[in-house]
Amino acid sequence: MVIVPKKTITVSDSSNEKSVEFPLLDGTLGQPTVDIQSLSPNMGYFTFDPGFASTASCKSDITFINGEEGILLYRGYPIDQLAEKSNFLEVSYLLMNGELPTSAEFATYEGEIKWYSKIHEKLRGFIEGFHYDAHPMAMMVGVVGSLSAFYHSEMDVDDPEHRRISALRMLAKMPIIAAACYKHSKGDPYVYPRGDLGYCENFLNMMFARPSEHFFIDEGQYMDPVAVKALDLLFILHADHEQNASTSTVRLASSTGANPYACIAAGIAALWGPAHGGANEAVLSMLEEIGTIDRIPEFIARAKDKDDPFRLMGFGHRVYKNFDPRATIIRKTCHELLEKRSTVDPLFELAMGLEQVALNDDYFVERKLYPNVDFYSGVIYKALNIPVEMFTVMFTIARTAGWVSHWLELMADPSRRIGRPRQLYTGSGMRDYTSVDDRGGA
Ligand code: CMC
Repeated sequence: MVIVPKKTITVSDSSNEKSVEFPLLDGTLGQPTVDIQSLSPNMGYFTFDPGFASTASCKSDITFINGEEGILLYRGYPIDQLAEKSNFLEVSYLLMNGELPTSAEFATYEGEIKWYSKIHEKLRGFIEGFHYDAHPMAMMVGVVGSLSAFYHSEMDVDDPEHRRISALRMLAKMPIIAAACYKHSKGDPYVYPRGDLGYCENFLNMMFARPSEHFFIDEGQYMDPVAVKALDLLFILHADHEQNASTSTVRLASSTGANPYACIAAGIAALWGPAHGGANEAVLSMLEEIGTIDRIPEFIARAKDKDDPFRLMGFGHRVYKNFDPRATIIRKTCHELLEKRSTVDPLFELAMGLEQVALNDDYFVERKLYPNVDFYSGVIYKALNIPVEMFTVMFTIARTAGWVSHWLELMADPSRRIGRPRQLYTGSGMRDYTSVDDRGGA
C-alpha cells in the first residue's frame, strides 16, 4: 500500500537555524507515524530509541494492535470473533493470504498442510543427537534451523510459489518436530502423523500416543474435544502479534535473503526468553516456587523491590496498557476447562489469588501491569497435561503462522532493504595501539 502523506512535521535545529519537514504517514488504523528516513542525510542526526518503543520498523498489512483500548485484529478481524468462530488452520490461512478462505480454498489448504506433514527420516538423526535432558526449545532452534540443510533450493526467494510452499512446510512440520523432541526427551518411540486427524488432534496424538500400547490406550484421554478446542484456541491467540521481538528477529534475518528455515530458527531463539514466549513456562515455575496462597505477599514485595531482579511473570506488556484482549478470552476458557474437573487444581487457585492481589496493589495499578496471555496459558497447558518445558514450544507452533506470514510479506515487497540499525557510540575515542611491553602491570 502506497501512503500519500497529508501532513508534515517540521523539526528545527537550534544549533544552525535549519529546519526540515518530515512526512506524517497515516496507516489504516493507529497513530500517525513520522517518516524520518531523510533525517540522517538532511540533518546529520540519528534517532535514539532503545527497545524500539517509538519506532515503526516496517509497514505491514497483517496485524493491528491498539494497546490502550485492548484491540487486536488479524487482517482486520477482531481476535474475539476469530477465537469464537474460526479455527487455527483457517486463521493461519487468513494471516498468510489476507482473506478468509472459501470452503474449496480451505479444503485445498488443509490437504496441502497434511501433504507436508512429514519429516525426512534423516532429520530424526538431528533430534537423536541431543542429550535426553536437552530443553525442547534448544532442540527446536537446532532442528528447525537444520531444515535449511534439507530444503536449500528454497533459497529462490524470488519465486512466489516457492515461498508459499516453504511457508506451508514450516507450519506443517512444526508440530511433528515439537512432538518428536518431546518423545526424544522421554525416550519413547516417535509417533508418526496421521492423515485422518486435524492439526491439533494430530499434535496431541503425536505427543501422547504410545505405539506399543495402541490397542490399550483410550484416545479420548488426550483427544477429548474440550482439550482439542482449548489447544486450538491457544494457537489462535498466539498466532501473530505484529512486530514483537521474535517476529522482528525473523524479519531482520529475512531481510538479508537468508534461508527461510534458518530465519524461523532465529525467531524461535528470540521467543525462548522469559520476557517473551518463555513467560508461560516461567509463570508455572513461579507459581510452583510461591507454593501456597499465604506466601503471595512475600513475592509481591519482591516484585516491587528494585534491588531484587524478580518480576511477576505473566504480568505487564509493552503494548497493552489496560488489558490484554487475549488474556480476557483465555481467562474464561481457563475457568471453563477447570470447572469440568472434579478436583480443584491448587496451582489455579494460587494463580487466581495472585491475580487478585496484584490487580489491587498500587504498584501494579500505577504502572498498568495486568495479567497477560501467558499468565493463563500455562495453567491451561498444565490442565491439558502438556509438560511445563513444552509450554514455549506450544507458543512456537502457533507463532509460526505469524512468522511465515511476515516472511511472505517482506519477501513480496520490492522495496525491501536489509535491516541495519545505527547506534549511539559510547566507547573509547580513537587511540593508538600500545605494544604489550608498554602496557604496564606485572
Ligand atoms: N513485575 C514487576 N514489575 C514490572 C513487571 C513485572 N512483571 N513488568 C514491568 N514492571 C515494572 C518495571 O520494573 C518498571 O518499573 P519502573 O517504572 O518503576 O522502573 C515498569 O513496570 C515498566 O517496565 P518495563 O520493563 O519498562 O516495561 P517493558 O515494556 O520494557 O517490558 C515486559 C514489558 C512484558 C517485558 C515486562 O512487563 C515483563 O518483564 N513482564 C514479565 C514477563 C512476561 O510476562 N512476558 C510475557 C509478555 S506477553 C507474551 C508475549 O507477547 O511475548
